[in-house]
Amino acid sequence: RVLSVVLSGGAGSRLWPASRQAFPKPFMKLGESTLLQQAVERGQACGTGDLMIVTNKDHVFLTKDVLGQMVDPPQTTLLLEPKGRNTGPAIALAALQCIRQYSGDTVMLVLSADHLVPDVEAFVASAQQAFRLATRGALVVFGINPTSPDTGFGYVEVAKVSREAQPVKRFVEKPDLETAQEYLATGRYYWNSGMFCFTADAIVAAFEKYAPELLAAARRTLDSAQEANGAMQFDLHSFGLQPDISIDYAVMEAADNVHVVPAKFGWSDVGSWPAVASAHTPDASGNTMPSDAVAIDTTGTHVQVDSHGPKLVATLGVHDLVIVDTPDALLVAHKSSAQKVKKIVDILKERK
Ligand code: GDD
Ligand code: MG
Repeated sequence: RVLSVVLSGGAGSRLWPASRQAFPKPFMKLGESTLLQQAVERGQACGTGDLMIVTNKDHVFLTKDVLGQMVDPPQTTLLLEPKGRNTGPAIALAALQCIRQYSGDTVMLVLSADHLVPDVEAFVASAQQAFRLATRGALVVFGINPTSPDTGFGYVEVAKVSREAQPVKRFVEKPDLETAQEYLATGRYYWNSGMFCFTADAIVAAFEKYAPELLAAARRTLDSAQEANGAMQFDLHSFGLQPDISIDYAVMEAADNVHVVPAKFGWSDVGSWPAVASAHTPDASGNTMPSDAVAIDTTGTHVQVDSHGPKLVATLGVHDLVIVDTPDALLVAHKSSAQKVKKIVDILKERK
């Protein structure tokens, strides 16, 4: 048995104003559907049966909307968090609930609700490799060939990068720039994609070994949960006693049974506006904008309009901009400053 577990909790503040606290990145439409729906469908394509979504309780209606709009939504259990405690507790709770509801030998395919994987077929092939390793007790990560010394990723060291799955020598979460540059130069590292695969028993055993306090706190949180209509509600007090730590720091850096399956699929964590722009097909001038836009002497510019009614876009003599229009906020930024959009969100938070 394989269960899809979708983590839908990040804020995605570099994608302001399309991604908000009340309307975060997983609910953003990219292409035909929302990133969350794409994640759910990615799991279904791998032949996973049921689904578990771990998300904030404030997003329960948005989440149900996404599922409700699907032609063939999977049987879903919602784990509703009263606040964010990072991916460590989210995954521990999902694994413990999986053992209760299904069985310990269930393979969990843990997916992020805010990644873009255009080639689903290639993803399925990698997932099947991961299922085989997970069944044998491995903790599996999907490795991406690194293209820059990005410090926002986990790095996975192997003996020699190849097309085959292999044991991981070392997992380093978010190294500093200098270290990331060294890693890249050796050619022995993958990026961690942030998607995982293991049996519920294997990940619980790893928590037991490397993060026993987290596991104990997660057990207490699950014991005090209220269940109604396929949703588990956690009590704020016991939930808050769980440590705020990611699975990468809590388990992956320490574990000795991590295997990497090299991704045969294209992948983006759509972290910033230029990444969103590259997910669209550009016109001859490298612009990504509505098809009826009037663009004169404009290059490399991304325009996205989310208005209540029709709105015509026209640009003149601008280059490499990101323009995102929503009913109550407008962003105009240079692509080279796109990583700093988060600063706007910080300022807005201070104003509140
Ligand atoms: N339910 C829930 N609760 N989900 C969460 C929480 C939480 O408290 N925190 C994060 N998530 C979800 C996010 O929505 C996202 O889908 C996923 O878990 C990863 O969290 P991020 O906050 O985006 O992590 P990251 O990008 O800094 O790092 C991770 O992903 C990288 C790849 O994108 C790590 O796994 C890195 O090693 C990896 O390279
Ligand atoms: Mg991320």
